[in-house]
Amino acid sequence: MRIDIISVAPDLLESPFNHSIIKRAKEKGLAEIIIHDLREYGLGNYKQIDDTQFGGGAGMVMMIEPIANCIRKLQSERVYDEVIYMTPDAKTLNQSTANTLSLKENILILTGHYKGVDQRIRELFITKEISIGDYVLTGGELAAAVLVDAVVRLIPGVIGDEQSALTDSFQDNLLSPPVYTRPSDFEGNKVPDILLSGNFPKIDDWRSEKAYERTEQIRPDLLDETS
Ligand code: ADE
Repeated sequence: MRIDIISVAPDLLESPFNHSIIKRAKEKGLAEIIIHDLREYGLGNYKQIDDTQFGGGAGMVMMIEPIANCIRKLQSERVYDEVIYMTPDAKTLNQSTANTLSLKENILILTGHYKGVDQRIRELFITKEISIGDYVLTGGELAAAVLVDAVVRLIPGVIGDEQSALTDSFQDNLLSPPVYTRPSDFEGNKVPDILLSGNFPKIDDWRSEKAYERTEQIRPDLLDETS
């Protein structure tokens, strides 16, 4: 999968992709992540990329021309399956969206700053808008890093133990069950006997039960979702 990200703060995106699983995915050639500095497409001597809003109001808006020029240049080089805009005023990212995106070949992600981008960019170029939660970040870069991390780890072949991605929280709209490792007894706090029993069908049942209980307690809304 190739992922292109357009940003006015490309340095923010250097380190998140140079660690553990994502780094390995890049080294194995399963993911290629390229960052594009929007400033290079800025207008005039000052490389302007933002301006005041029509109609008045505080905060700058990212201008249409630099973004349009950048997206058009990238689209002249390859076909993108999705052109995504990271913004808090969109549907929230979930595991199902991450699963769908992990099967795409090329995706382009636009990150916003200030008051956001000129609405016409969203109408003309964007095929999908994603928020990572109901709070406002300084810019879309960290949101893009979250999206890329969630997607890249799902690309077939990225996680060695395939089972591990399949049993993640949210994969079936359920939170994960509790997990334990050695020692089996820490100052009298014991690991549930069932996990030491070697009875794997029973362990599976116990895990499903605990996952359901935890979801019911903490995120009952997930149990109402159909997808
Ligand atoms: N940009 C600023 N806040 C954001 C959020 N919550 N999700 C996605 N992009 C954002």
